[in-house]
Amino acid sequence: MSLPQASDLDVAGKRVLVRCDLNVPMEDGPGGSKTVTDDGRIRASVPLLRDLADRGARVIVMAHLGRPKGAPDPALSLRPVVHRLHELIGLERYSVHGAEDVTGPDAKELVERTGPGDIGVLENIRFDPRETSKDDAERGAFADELAALADLYVDDAFGAVHRKHASVYDVAQRLPHAAGPLVASEVAVLERLTESPARPYAVVLGGSKVSDKLKVIEALLPKVDTLLVGGGMCFTFLAAQGYDVGSSLLEADQLDTCRAFLETGKVVLPVDVVAADRFAADAAHDVVDATAIPSDRMGLDIGPRSVELFARALEGAQTVFWNGPMGVFEMEPYAAGTRGVAEAVAALSSGGGGALTVVGGGDSAAAVRALGIDEERFTHISTGGGASLEYLEGKVLPGLAVLEAG
Ligand code: 3PG
Repeated sequence: MSLPQASDLDVAGKRVLVRCDLNVPMEDGPGGSKTVTDDGRIRASVPLLRDLADRGARVIVMAHLGRPKGAPDPALSLRPVVHRLHELIGLERYSVHGAEDVTGPDAKELVERTGPGDIGVLENIRFDPRETSKDDAERGAFADELAALADLYVDDAFGAVHRKHASVYDVAQRLPHAAGPLVASEVAVLERLTESPARPYAVVLGGSKVSDKLKVIEALLPKVDTLLVGGGMCFTFLAAQGYDVGSSLLEADQLDTCRAFLETGKVVLPVDVVAADRFAADAAHDVVDATAIPSDRMGLDIGPRSVELFARALEGAQTVFWNGPMGVFEMEPYAAGTRGVAEAVAALSSGGGGALTVVGGGDSAAAVRALGIDEERFTHISTGGGASLEYLEGKVLPGLAVLEAG
């Protein structure tokens, strides 16, 4: 894929509208405030913003946070994100300010006072319902307002390139544009996964729902040598083999689909699970055979024998894509499966291992950081969960297609 690059744009003195993916998890802080709990996506956005500011651009950032209902929602304000961005980019060296609206008077005033080398951030772009509208004319009208704020457009929001939204798609049709370095590096890695990957090629999938991953499993199974399945979705596979999965997550309407996947002979399932009497960190829990989950228990993690089995199945792999945690890693009693698999994947590319290991965004990327595993041990940790899965499904991603079209 040949995308125009931000580094080739002449940005000095120009107003550059930059789409970033700053959609980060937050928790409630003191006095009703919000704090960023995983700043991975903000960090990933810093290199482009610094580079543009250093080259004298007047940088205007657009980003979304969560899924507001098309109206301002104080709980989803970008304000705490702007604060963290400023800390990460350099409090003393750079000026970073946020607007109180998206394209209203405050945003216009912010653009006016954002000088060369300064960074202004619009309020959550999804506070305007036209951003995500299915109606081309509505999105177009919003994109006209956004484009009027700038001279150039750069998309570095890899995590949002699968969305046909005004700030991702329509603005690019209205301004001279380019891809940022994050988008370029993410696409380069995904191309390595799709264009003749080194073999053996193993994929590890977790997360709660098979239905979310159907398309990617269908697309990947013919291409990979092994597919390891953990997380909540493994129980529908186990049930498809005829086992009782107790009160574990089960998608009964996906049993036939799982049977068809199992017939390929490439799917490896857990052999033991951590089964708890309820969904809680302090629930009573034991490791049980995956084929003998008591009827009043739910599987919340893969067990230690499964971690060993998965590690053995990964041995010698030259290409690994991992998306989705193996269990409820946010609760310590159910974190060992994800930790063990993360270690096994990382070992293939670190300490002399030469494999290409890619962690596919979202929860798995957050898990790597939350579990304190050194990110450098993987070849690449994607900032886009949904976007990387849709790329691997072979879909056309609107945000990339529009940049490529020129
Ligand atoms: C993500 O979190 O995957 C991206 O920021 C896209 O968010 P969305 O799924 O709400 O469009």
